[in-house]
Amino acid sequence: MGKYIVFDGMDGSGKGTQLRLLEKDFSHAAVFTREPGGTPLAEDIRKIVRDSPLARKSTALSNFLLFWAAREELQQNFVTPMLRSGEHVLSDRGDSSTFAYQICGEEHEELLDLFVSMRKLVFDEDAGRRAPDLYIIFDLPSGVARARVMQDSCREKTHFDARDIGYYERVRNGFRRFSERHPVIFIDAMQTPEEMHRSLVKILATEMLETNLPLQFDLA
Ligand code: TYD
Repeated sequence: MGKYIVFDGMDGSGKGTQLRLLEKDFSHAAVFTREPGGTPLAEDIRKIVRDSPLARKSTALSNFLLFWAAREELQQNFVTPMLRSGEHVLSDRGDSSTFAYQICGEEHEELLDLFVSMRKLVFDEDAGRRAPDLYIIFDLPSGVARARVMQDSCREKTHFDARDIGYYERVRNGFRRFSERHPVIFIDAMQTPEEMHRSLVKILATEMLETNLPLQFDLA
């Protein structure tokens, strides 16, 4: 079985740039995907949750379930078959985002029990599924994250971006809270891109070498 590793963190953390670099380095050693998305139906759901004004006006529960519907689709049709065939799966975001954004950022603690139930169903080991083996979460002060997002003229802003500082702070604390119960390594996103890249290559090589797949990295 391959390893299932999720990359997550606040917008503005440089996660996108790092993932693009890793895709080049590890294209021979792992398959890449993203959430919400990664299958045709999940990509359709992505358009709805990111861009639809109707989704924005819907209830917190309905938004939460849309993210889980996309995740279920991705597990069934991509992640599980890939892991079974021995591939490592590296995902841009995962259920850690639902916890940090929908429950903590948007302040919907009432969804917590449902979050635990959805995890059991969607990552059900009895059904041959698996929860991520590791979450690599990019961490940085919320003020810096927000300022970077707002200053990034290339970035197509979504409704997730244009929120107040309190929201960014709650999301950051949400990721920390998530790490109390799940296997998380935090990456300090105040480091230079080169430093972050070096740490990430080291972590991935160590994680993925365990399964004896060929890797062309010098770990020294
Ligand atoms: P995107 O602009 O692609 O974010 P990024 O490039 O920073 O990953 O859009 C994804 C947005 O969706 C991001 O702001 C976080 C949000 N999101 C949730 O709110 N809940 C979730 O469960 C997931 C997977 C993402």
